[in-house]
Amino acid sequence: MDTVVLGRTGLEVSVVGLGCGGHSRLGQATGSTEAESVHLVAQALDLGVSYVDTARAYGTESIVGRALAGRRDEVVLSTKVAPTDGAGPLGVAALRAAVQDSLERLATDRVDVLHLHGVTASTYRHSREVLVPELLALRDEGWIRFLAISEAFAADPAHEMFGLAAGDDCWDVAMVGFNPLNQSARERVLPWAERHGVGIEVMFAVRRALSRPDELRRVVTELVADGHLQPGDPDLADPLSFLVHDGCGSVVEAAYRFARHEPGCHVVLSGTGNPAHLAQNVESINGPPLPPEDTAKLRRIFGGLDHLSGN
Ligand SMILES: NC(=O)c1ccc[n+]([C@@H]2O[C@H](COP(=O)([O-])OP(=O)(O)OC[C@H]3O[C@@H](n4cnc5c(N)ncnc54)[C@H](OP(=O)(O)O)[C@@H]3O)[C@@H](O)[C@H]2O)c1
Repeated sequence: MDTVVLGRTGLEVSVVGLGCGGHSRLGQATGSTEAESVHLVAQALDLGVSYVDTARAYGTESIVGRALAGRRDEVVLSTKVAPTDGAGPLGVAALRAAVQDSLERLATDRVDVLHLHGVTASTYRHSREVLVPELLALRDEGWIRFLAISEAFAADPAHEMFGLAAGDDCWDVAMVGFNPLNQSARERVLPWAERHGVGIEVMFAVRRALSRPDELRRVVTELVADGHLQPGDPDLADPLSFLVHDGCGSVVEAAYRFARHEPGCHVVLSGTGNPAHLAQNVESINGPPLPPEDTAKLRRIFGGLDHLSGN
């Protein structure tokens, strides 16, 4: 397993992060039992994964807590709290209570990376002015080690929120959407992160559009119909088939390798409920960069898009 230093946190972590949310939620969204999901987390650790990302909203914190019993020291543990709840902007007492609940479910006394979850341009100011000071207090009290922020990529594919975050220096880690269909983080987020030493976790590396051939065809057909891509470039019948050759076995593999080797990206999150997919994805993310001509072609065809997430 390759490792990387997660920006200014100085933490050395695996380049593969286990994503415990997304459409699979460790299999909890796709019919797995809790025991199977606990086993999947253990499998990830056995494969050398040392970064695990969950969230209050995913309903998987207690599964992670069970899987980490006796193995807590093997991982850098990340979780998230949303800046709003059903009643509106989250207050500081509710934030503190939410972090305490997460610690209990995770069966630990400290979270390494605490994100404000799915922050948008409209919730950024409250996050920065009200919640960050409380997170810094929680950090000083030893409940959390580093502050992080994740964007709502499906709703904010052009990274408007990070345009606001770029003015601040309080974030140690940021979770950003990046994949062949939307590479706009390269100009909009990664230079800021680099300047501030912010550790970058990639989400949406594959998601639905890159893991389901029918969905990819639908998305690309729509891009052509809407004038975002030239007809015939790519081939509508099998749009990313040019990536599958000589040692690259699938579009999924190509997408994970594309994210892994983007300069400035540290950890690539992979979400799955399927043990075979987990093993494949660990291998893919540890794989070499795509051939330069394939990366260049992805940049040429899709590099100007910033309005879709591949969700
Ligand atoms: N705003 C936020 O903060 C936010 C939003 C979204 C995600 N996240 C985090 O980012 C993590 C990664 O996101 P994600 O889980 O959506 O993204 P992902 O890893 O890009 O894609 C996961 C999807 O691809 C499928 N898949 C995975 N490996 C496959 C393979 N080898 N072959 C075929 N299909 C495969 C999965 O289904 P199977 O279960 O069938 O493998 C699942 O539907 C999440 O788990 C979560 O931790 C954060």
